[in-house]
Amino acid sequence: MQKLKYLSYLLLLTILSQTVNGQTNTRTVENLNKGWKFYLGDEVKASNPDFNDQNWRSLNVPHDWSVEGSFSKDHPATPGGGALPGGTGWYRKTFIIPATSKGKSVFIDFDGVYRNSEVWINGHLLGKRPNGYIAFRYDLTPFLLYGKKNVLAVKVDNSEQPNSRWYSGSGIYRDVKLTTVNHVFVDLWGTQVRTPKVTSEIANVSIKTQIRNNSTAVQQGVVKTSLVNAEGKVVTSTATKITLKDSISFVEQLLSVSNPHLWSDTDPYLYKVVTTILLGNKTVDQYETTAGLRYFSFDKDKGFSLNGKPLKIRGVCNHHDLGALGAAFNVRAAERQLEMLKEMGCNGLRTSHNPPAEELLNLCDKMGFIVMNEAFDMWKKGKNKYDYSLDWDKWHKRDLEDQIKRDRNHPSVFMWSIGNEIQEQWGTGADTAGRVITRELTAIVKSLDDRPVTSATNDINLYNNLIFSNAYDLIGYNYNHDKFAKFPQTFPGKQLIGSETVSALQTRGHYDMPSDSIRVWPTAWDKPLLTGNADLTCSAYDNCRTPWGSTHEETLCEFNTNQHLAGMFIWTGFDYLGEPTPYPWPARSSYFGIIDLAGFPKDVFYMYQSQWTNTPVLHIFPHWNWKPGQLVDVWAYYNNADEVELFLNGKSLGSKKKVQHEFHVYWRIPFEAGTIKAVSRKNGVTVLTKEITTTGTPSKIILTADRNKIKADGEDLSFITAKIADEKGNMIPNADNLIQFTVSGDASIAGVDNGNPTSMESFKASQRKAFNGLALAILKSGEKSGKVTFTATAQGLVPASIEIEVK
Ligand code: GAL
Repeated sequence: MQKLKYLSYLLLLTILSQTVNGQTNTRTVENLNKGWKFYLGDEVKASNPDFNDQNWRSLNVPHDWSVEGSFSKDHPATPGGGALPGGTGWYRKTFIIPATSKGKSVFIDFDGVYRNSEVWINGHLLGKRPNGYIAFRYDLTPFLLYGKKNVLAVKVDNSEQPNSRWYSGSGIYRDVKLTTVNHVFVDLWGTQVRTPKVTSEIANVSIKTQIRNNSTAVQQGVVKTSLVNAEGKVVTSTATKITLKDSISFVEQLLSVSNPHLWSDTDPYLYKVVTTILLGNKTVDQYETTAGLRYFSFDKDKGFSLNGKPLKIRGVCNHHDLGALGAAFNVRAAERQLEMLKEMGCNGLRTSHNPPAEELLNLCDKMGFIVMNEAFDMWKKGKNKYDYSLDWDKWHKRDLEDQIKRDRNHPSVFMWSIGNEIQEQWGTGADTAGRVITRELTAIVKSLDDRPVTSATNDINLYNNLIFSNAYDLIGYNYNHDKFAKFPQTFPGKQLIGSETVSALQTRGHYDMPSDSIRVWPTAWDKPLLTGNADLTCSAYDNCRTPWGSTHEETLCEFNTNQHLAGMFIWTGFDYLGEPTPYPWPARSSYFGIIDLAGFPKDVFYMYQSQWTNTPVLHIFPHWNWKPGQLVDVWAYYNNADEVELFLNGKSLGSKKKVQHEFHVYWRIPFEAGTIKAVSRKNGVTVLTKEITTTGTPSKIILTADRNKIKADGEDLSFITAKIADEKGNMIPNADNLIQFTVSGDASIAGVDNGNPTSMESFKASQRKAFNGLALAILKSGEKSGKVTFTATAQGLVPASIEIEVK
């Protein structure tokens, strides 16, 4: 027996070494984002390959037509949905399939189309997919013309609205890819990489591979699987002989690595699993899966731990829109958001309330985010007239399965949420739907993956049907921060995560005093706001919140003091389009963000940074332009220091220290024009100083770019901030000058914004008013290398220019 084993091992080794020189003719994955035709409206004949689309608009996807429209309260999406238009749109793409692809399988992969997409190839209907957030594939092979033009037509129907509680966007808003493989290949999302045992000494990696045999013959071959480290070195590999009798076969393999380099939020080290299928000595497919080796646990008493060390998940919830870019996914725009969140000290992200773009998870893998990957905002009981509840019966199983299969290998994904504030949580007597569906969905997830399952529940009473189903690994509390402490008594033996917290409200740069009086706006979730500010602002001292939420500081205090709490996801990291609580129209985007829609941090960003990072922080606010004698509250967020001393025009106003459970200090002082200066000190030694000066009149524009060098790939972005300043360069805190932007060189303006939730200006323009001193332009590269000059002008102000290198 031993001898036999040895012989077959030798045979495998021979096969493997032969393939080094063997033919490698494997898969190609071609990005199909460029060169589409688009028509806004319905055109019944457009699925016909001979249809003349010459007069249609040319564009690249990812594309979102809603964000190109004008705001109106009359759009069926309502202000809650962003007050932007929906409708029906058509996309067509003509492409050539080379004659060499004959005999292969060719697929089209969509990462997300909002919504109700129907896809045709050369006039053949491939299918319909209602869910706007799900990735899907169609097999083009039987309908292709080789060596000739092929026509893909996509109808997108987002006309029935409202179908969302937030802005959804419309169109092919994520990547499209063309995948060409041989007849034997790793199937769609065909690998499942698990780490049944990981310690600092050893990692066992199990790989289950789903192989498709599209040929009519039984195939004999070998599946070789290697683990490759971040330096590109094969650390270990294995090979298994296979006989492919059926159209689908599975291979299970185990790899073991000693002294693995573990993945963590601070050191997101990635390996990759490379799967090679050989038939004879020919490599017919090679497929890569990103892998991260880590272990974690949720403990009822100690909360979350990663790789054996206690760690609090310091997360935020985000919706999928990227501000002025709308829903159209852009890797750099998402990366910038994550970079800012990391700077703030965040290590977690909840993809509220839907499956994210695959690229977002790739970024989370690389940048070290702990992700709660969420599936649904509603089940069978809807929240809006035309929402996904109408598709629930037919599609939920398939959609959930596909989400798990696509995302389960990402090391950044730590838990699944099968729903947010699901209506079925309520139900008594014979209404057992909540329990039944919870068990069904949890079973679907568990059949495909072993990570913890939870949902985000806002009613945390014992009668809650979802919790009561007893199916969850984790109990997700939305809000209810005042009940964190009692959790161990309420749900003995269970683990707690703050699936959604805070919901405080702020407008960047706006301050209502006294800062220690808290505005609860509206007074109840089902009541309109009767007070509020005439200009539809909310105060950026942390003193305005929703009735179901809290100030940032209140929840942070509970976060710090409850050891059993695994972590939390704050509502929200970034402002998003839609849901302009607490205000009605013309408010059209959220006030919840720690960072505004344009990506400018609100003051509370620095509170988190002072608490969650070691970056030295001393942040003082508000601005220093008030009425003489007016009492003004000056706040300071700081860290790495024992105290902060404040000076007004050189005169000390005394030192202040934070006491336990306090996150800021403040002084109430009569305004006098000039300069306030804060000095933070540790053991009497100055750590940082900050000054704010009463400004003169607007004099000039100052431009700064987040990056001065971008790639000439037609997709890269530079985020350019325009600041309205006085002669000395101090930002004018209420400036709203209209700024014109011009570009010379191969680049264009992809969007403009200023973070004002009530602005009716278009995001797709070459001008923008400043809001509280700032405006943003998003510059997108073309495909030619060279220097791009970006200029900003405004009436009566000295203009500014900045050079961006596109390479
Ligand atoms: C939650 C809900 C979120 C958002 C938030 C606003 O209840 O889950 O989607 O609506 O409230 O505070």
